[in-house]
Amino acid sequence: MRENELEKVLKEHGQEHIWEAYQKLDEAGKEKLASQVERVDWSMVAMAGHEELAQERGKLEPLSALEVYEIEKNKDAYEAKGLEAIKAGKVGAVLLAGGQGTRLGSDGPKGKYNIGLTKDVYIFERLIRNLQDVTDKAGCFVPLYIMTSDKNNDETIEFFEEKNYFGYPKEYVKFFKQEMAPSTDYDGKLLMEEKDSLSLSPNGNGGWFYSMVVTGIIEDVHARGIEWINIFAVDNVLQRIADPVFVGATLESGRVSGSKVVRKAEPNEKVGVLCLEDGKPSIVEYYEMTEEIINSREANGELSYNFGVILNYLFRVDKLEEIQNAKMPVHVVEKKIPYIDAEGNYHKPEEPNGYKFELLVLDMIHLLDNCLSFEVVRNREFAPIKNKTGVDSVESARALLQENGVEL
Ligand code: UTP
Repeated sequence: MRENELEKVLKEHGQEHIWEAYQKLDEAGKEKLASQVERVDWSMVAMAGHEELAQERGKLEPLSALEVYEIEKNKDAYEAKGLEAIKAGKVGAVLLAGGQGTRLGSDGPKGKYNIGLTKDVYIFERLIRNLQDVTDKAGCFVPLYIMTSDKNNDETIEFFEEKNYFGYPKEYVKFFKQEMAPSTDYDGKLLMEEKDSLSLSPNGNGGWFYSMVVTGIIEDVHARGIEWINIFAVDNVLQRIADPVFVGATLESGRVSGSKVVRKAEPNEKVGVLCLEDGKPSIVEYYEMTEEIINSREANGELSYNFGVILNYLFRVDKLEEIQNAKMPVHVVEKKIPYIDAEGNYHKPEEPNGYKFELLVLDMIHLLDNCLSFEVVRNREFAPIKNKTGVDSVESARALLQENGVEL
């Protein structure tokens, strides 16, 4: 971008302070900052403080799930079908590990966190062991793609190298980086984290497929003939990856995507619920639902919106390609964002001081025509580590791992 263009763009968007900062830089600094400004999605930044720009919800209706008792009845057949697809090399897995894990408050990649009690048990290691349960059964390996960000990519790769990929064959593991997004203060002014750098953070987990395309990693998916991708979060240490029963049931259903869900513990549980929105599958957050919807019940007394998502989805690759350029809703979230002021002083706020902009994988479901809602038993498959203590914490996950016979 030429200098006069840069000045024009920044002034047009009310970002004069960035232009001021730019002018004080040496050539290398100017180049760095200009290339960041060039990548800014201004439509995203314009949403700062404008809740009215967020997309309105359509008409919600319940979506029934394939429930545990039904799955049990057909488990062998589903598993056989899933294993067949895995053996044919049609299933790949994507580990979402680009987040910053701010709630856990550990520096570096969350997957490096050691949850062991009497020995080392790293989150990444647990996930690889879970995947190996399947690959041992299938007698072949499942390609694993790991999404990182500029903030944790090198450290993640170094860790896998150091631990020798926890025994998983290295040629089946590939890393790719997600996109970064800027942050703003409450007035929509871009924050800076260094004198020659905007404050950038990973743009949420929803851009993962787009990032697979722009980084070229999708070529590997094609070369291997992968037709289905199982995507999952780093922080659920009971995560079943490339679960053949889930794969088989989704194939059998003829749907183009699948989502693992758990029965809600109570109507007001704070989880996103899989339902229909304007006739298409959709995930609606608890705070987007009215009391009436939350409490509505079916004739059999069950909650109508009874199944919460656990960030474990199956997507058909050709369908992902069809929607890869679709506009996804931007979620504007208030966060504590470290920044430097006009004088170059660094601040690490104790309270939220601005906005970050995120895309979420759950919004991809609504772009697709259909989705199999697949119920799993919560205590067997859901042990998320978000916090150090309390709900969804290292403590609660340890207890669940032990309940499932994992030595820590
Ligand atoms: P979370 O929503 O829990 O976010 O991520 P987080 O960044 O890990 O943690 P907090 O909110 O800062 O405490 C759910 C999953 O999505 C991934 C995370 O790594 C995790 O697997 N994720 C999140 C990304 O891959 N990229 C992102 O930009 C955000």
